[in-house]
Amino acid sequence: MKSRILIFVMFICISVQGQNITPEQNKFDKMSWFSEAKLGIFIHWGIYSVKGISESWSFFNEYISHRDYLNQLDSFDAINYNPKKWVELIKNSGAKYAVITSKHHDGFALWKTKYGNLNSVNNSASKKDLLTPFINELKRNKLKLGLYYSLPDWSFSDYDNFTKNKKRYLIHEEPKRWEKFIAYRDNQLFELNNLFNPDIWWFDGDWEHSAQEWKSLKLKQILLEKNPKVIINSRLNNYGDYDTPEIGVPIYRPKSNYWELCLTINDSWGYQKNDKNYKSSMQIIDIFVDVISKGGNLLLNIGPKADGTIPKQQEAILKDLGKWIKKHESAIYKTKRGIPYDHFYGPTTLNKKEEILYLFVRDLPKDNKIVLKGIENKINRAYILGDGTILNKQLLCKVYWNKYPGISYLEIPKDNIDPYYTVVAVVLDGPIKLFKEKTGAIESN
Ligand code: GLC
Repeated sequence: MKSRILIFVMFICISVQGQNITPEQNKFDKMSWFSEAKLGIFIHWGIYSVKGISESWSFFNEYISHRDYLNQLDSFDAINYNPKKWVELIKNSGAKYAVITSKHHDGFALWKTKYGNLNSVNNSASKKDLLTPFINELKRNKLKLGLYYSLPDWSFSDYDNFTKNKKRYLIHEEPKRWEKFIAYRDNQLFELNNLFNPDIWWFDGDWEHSAQEWKSLKLKQILLEKNPKVIINSRLNNYGDYDTPEIGVPIYRPKSNYWELCLTINDSWGYQKNDKNYKSSMQIIDIFVDVISKGGNLLLNIGPKADGTIPKQQEAILKDLGKWIKKHESAIYKTKRGIPYDHFYGPTTLNKKEEILYLFVRDLPKDNKIVLKGIENKINRAYILGDGTILNKQLLCKVYWNKYPGISYLEIPKDNIDPYYTVVAVVLDGPIKLFKEKTGAIESN
């Protein structure tokens, strides 16, 4: 009897819970780790790293023939590949997830796929499954996994597009051939799903076909059936969960609540030895704080070499970033987007309860004082994060006869500035309230 009652109570709980969960709540729950993560590392690794030419596009745009492009397979040896080292570097960069190119537009798969005939085990000098050891290591370190998968496969004999000037066939003339391609694609995706159960599907290349041709909605439904918590990026003809601006750092906060800027560390996705136009650690942190202050994530790319090593310069940037993030963790992870620039001339974030405002200070003003305007709360304390020094503060323009909350000057001692951004934690007396009224004449006296 007791057990029957227990089952009944459990049933009631589940159905009540079920009733209460709206699609919005569901999405909120599913996306929560993602919106708290702030930083991910993108990895573009493939045969294009042999010659150091652009990933897939070099043959698509006919800078090199397809045959010569594929010749790189013979030198893609991954001889110094050390997935443990990769993951250590990623973890120490402060990233909470990584997204790796399981297959780019050139169709070269980094895992031992049963489908198609272009993969790292059977067709390249490495003769190894390169994806599994990396993913195992990632999971061992409790980092989330994103699988980049290109919808176009320009090398596959039943895919319609080959290069920018060569098409194999027209879909409406040979629909069966297209179906063959779709079956191949689905087989690979289900195989990846079974093997790795990713946290994110990071699709790319949807621009080549309509949602109908890609069968995007059906694909999404099946992937979700297999893996209900998986997050899907926006490159599945807008059936995704979050926006993916690319390289162009948004000036205004994107409309979507969930977004991720993917960014090259120099000007290339894959390793290109000639590309020396690296962003400095300072510039990467500039972009990172701008992104998180607008409520997004940064997906910073690295491009390993054909032997599996990560270029020194890329490694150095990730290490710098990680050091800076570690010192300022509470201003970064699990925070919300900050306040408009009208109130503070710089990026900001807020803690979950919105009672601590974090100010990111890049350059110190001449008098060492930073300015915070129109905050209705009382500032209980302002201190330098990761250092603890309490700041002197001065409140100006606050008079008893109107509601205008005044202007706070916070003084940062010169000795305490960080080489990148100094972060000031402003502890308020409650959830932040921004003053939104027009300032007028005397209100009382
Ligand atoms: C683009 C490119 C591709 C790159 C990707 C990264 O869509 O086609 O080469 O992998 O963006 O976001």
